[in-house]
Amino acid sequence: MERAVLASVRRLRRVPTVLAVALACACAGSAWAVDDGSAVHPDTWPRATWPLPKDAALEQRVATLMAKMTLEEKVGQLIQADILSVTPEEVRTYHLGAILAGGNSKPRHTVTATADEWKAASETFYRAAMAPNDKHEPIPLLFGIDAVHGHNNVVGATLFPQNSALGNAHDPELIRQIGEATAAEVRATGINWTFAPTLAVPQDERWGRAYEGYSQDPKLVAQYATAMVEGLQGKVGTPQFLDGSHVLASAKHFLADGGTKNGKDQGDAQISEATLRDIHAAGYPPAIDAGVQVIMASFSSWNGRKMSADKALITDVLKQHMDFQGLVVGDWNAHGQVPGCTNDDCPASYNAGLDMLMAPDSWRGLYEHTLAEVKAGTIPMARLDDAVARILRVKFRAGLFEQGAPSTQPIVQKADEVVGSAAHRAVARRAVRESIVLLKNNGGLLPLDPRKHILIAGESADNIPRQNGGWTLNWQGTGLKNENFPGAQSIGAGIAEQVKAAGGSAQIDVDGHFTSKPDVAVVVFGEDPYAEFQGDLPNLMFKPGDDHDLELLRQLRGQGIPVVAVFLSGRPLWVNREINAADAFVAGWLPGSEGGGLADVLLRKRDGSIAHDFHGKLAYSWPATAVVGQGKPQFALGYGLTYADHSTLPRLPEVSGITGEQIPVGNYLDRGKGVHGYTFTLMDAKGASVTGDVAPTSTPDGSLHMSALDYKAQEDARRFSWQSDSGELSIRARAPLDLDRETNGDVLLVTTLRVDALPSQNVWIGMGCGKGCQGRVQLGKTLSKLPVGQWTRVGVPLKCLRAAGADMHHIDQPFAWGAGKGTEIAISRVSLGTDIDQVAECVK
Ligand code: BGC
Ligand code: BGC
Repeated sequence: MERAVLASVRRLRRVPTVLAVALACACAGSAWAVDDGSAVHPDTWPRATWPLPKDAALEQRVATLMAKMTLEEKVGQLIQADILSVTPEEVRTYHLGAILAGGNSKPRHTVTATADEWKAASETFYRAAMAPNDKHEPIPLLFGIDAVHGHNNVVGATLFPQNSALGNAHDPELIRQIGEATAAEVRATGINWTFAPTLAVPQDERWGRAYEGYSQDPKLVAQYATAMVEGLQGKVGTPQFLDGSHVLASAKHFLADGGTKNGKDQGDAQISEATLRDIHAAGYPPAIDAGVQVIMASFSSWNGRKMSADKALITDVLKQHMDFQGLVVGDWNAHGQVPGCTNDDCPASYNAGLDMLMAPDSWRGLYEHTLAEVKAGTIPMARLDDAVARILRVKFRAGLFEQGAPSTQPIVQKADEVVGSAAHRAVARRAVRESIVLLKNNGGLLPLDPRKHILIAGESADNIPRQNGGWTLNWQGTGLKNENFPGAQSIGAGIAEQVKAAGGSAQIDVDGHFTSKPDVAVVVFGEDPYAEFQGDLPNLMFKPGDDHDLELLRQLRGQGIPVVAVFLSGRPLWVNREINAADAFVAGWLPGSEGGGLADVLLRKRDGSIAHDFHGKLAYSWPATAVVGQGKPQFALGYGLTYADHSTLPRLPEVSGITGEQIPVGNYLDRGKGVHGYTFTLMDAKGASVTGDVAPTSTPDGSLHMSALDYKAQEDARRFSWQSDSGELSIRARAPLDLDRETNGDVLLVTTLRVDALPSQNVWIGMGCGKGCQGRVQLGKTLSKLPVGQWTRVGVPLKCLRAAGADMHHIDQPFAWGAGKGTEIAISRVSLGTDIDQVAECVK
């Protein structure tokens, strides 16, 4: 018996009676049940209609091509490799069907890449796949990328507001235009496929991907699904459908990625079949009706069963019942999470109905195992042929066999006029105007008179990366500067420009200092950029333990200055205190590259008339406490003021609902990144430093090198290698911490680490307490006893650091670390705690 079946039979022995009954039904043909999950009843699901007519000519082409293909060529079509882990030559040798550029994968290993670099990459891969070969029929490649808020991997592209912003616009026609503009920019770089739209219906905003979803309301997601698919691909039945300026769209992530327990990314949706169907599947029938060519299976599970191997949902519901005739692609090594599978071996996913697996770095092993499994019959030949045929149909429909090399395509030739064009930026700016939501406008403070003197303050006042959030030039959207965004405008710059034009004056000062007292202050602040699980939260508190922004609002208002707060976030968070501290409060979401769109609405025209009114109505309800699902929302779905409303918002309760121990304190480095409120740097012998926000990086003198690596999830750790005896890691707090209580409470400084090489015992860990004040503990002996290559939590008692000279009342550097030449250590997390595997010896 084949392996997958054996495994499932073994697991079936443990299923409870309810499931056993469901299984009995499966045999009778009315329901489909799989091991340790729930039963699915396809007939109760909505139907969809594949909009493309039967096409005999297309079928003929597919059949003719497949007749010439070897088994190896067929298996190659089923695999998608990442451009950082595959060469064009390998694509050709292994006949791979597709490549992708992951969020951190840029041509030539650059950190950010220009349109020209992307054009060159797509050209090289195309040519490799199509190089003439006597033995093999060349098949053009699919090249996929996450163009999720515009062509967001490309320097100079138009960046639209993220999806959680767009929901508030309630404007499908706008969504269609965004889709069209995005498609054109992607095609202009020679890329033919985007991993969008996300049709998640997020039900718990602690989820780090909530901003990728349009709304918590399934009806709105369904409407936008049609519009975005038609925008990206062109409308079925028109000459524009999948023509040279459109791309293949992917509806993702099937299914219930936004329904996981506690909003955990890649988690488990513990919900009924009805909820799965009525809420989370809402976007899929309309996407299929609009002819979406690709659907991506989710990393997540439904009642314990991984979507990446769920035959009932992928094959029975999606392909059969909903008539989806495109291709189903897996997510980034998601198949490796299926029980019994690894990243390079997963027949269960193919057998469940996935046609192509995304195997970024694991493609070679996957190719070899899959080939062997087809030969052995573990993957039936009919399944292989069905998958290949689906992939080839998509390639034919997309015109890939006719369009030729990217460099010969008109849109690629005029890429300069397409990427970041004025017309696309105008659509993005309109999207900003339509998606921001006015939550409070006491005393009718807004709109502002542009002839006045306006101060623009706050961390996000003049910061284009913070307007964009994750999936921007890199995966997390971190480590970027305004200079990385040619053609874009910050919110502050947008306001200043219009104020100046109207004869007023403006000053941008992040800290809220001013030279002459302003008539009004606009404070722009919000979340730090994040993507996927790195943005998961334990509750809806905005920056717990860090009141910096709140203090800025209070301090300006305390000086008698009216304050407008502009809050930039991917999701609604509990900000009642900040709302109380401002006269007007605007939910700005993540508006993208066209910051000027805010000024269009916040400022009056020079003649005093209203330029643009607020239009946005909440597509996610806004919480009254930081506890998910507690009580009524502060602002319900659909809420949003306009300038015609003259309401006064009374003072809101300031009780978060979160008790002390739930607030994470003393967390300094998490998932490889400095935590908000702390700066993480690498320093060399001369004291010159470089930010630890971006990996890979090196100190200016090259003494210390840092790269990203995977611990529990993608890139959630950093490896440090010392090239000389100098080189230090340092984490600094914005304001000194008083750790005296923790020190007396036997708390430890805990580092989650892995020793890869330790040529000498020269390693120390320390805490700094102002100029010339530091306590260092020698760690060499402790580390030398640890097994090499294994993750451990090493704790250093705060008392040791105090004994070594740290003034625990004034810790401005809660973490410092140095080591000798040749040392290689990986670190994922640094925090205060008591949970450890190994306690360090107290040696000064
Ligand atoms: C994400 C997908 C994305 C893919 C490729 C995955 O980690 O879940 O949404 O399309 O990577 O970058
Ligand atoms: C992302 C990729 C990213 C990778 C980093 C994935 O989850 O979707 O795009 O580059 O993780 O390892």
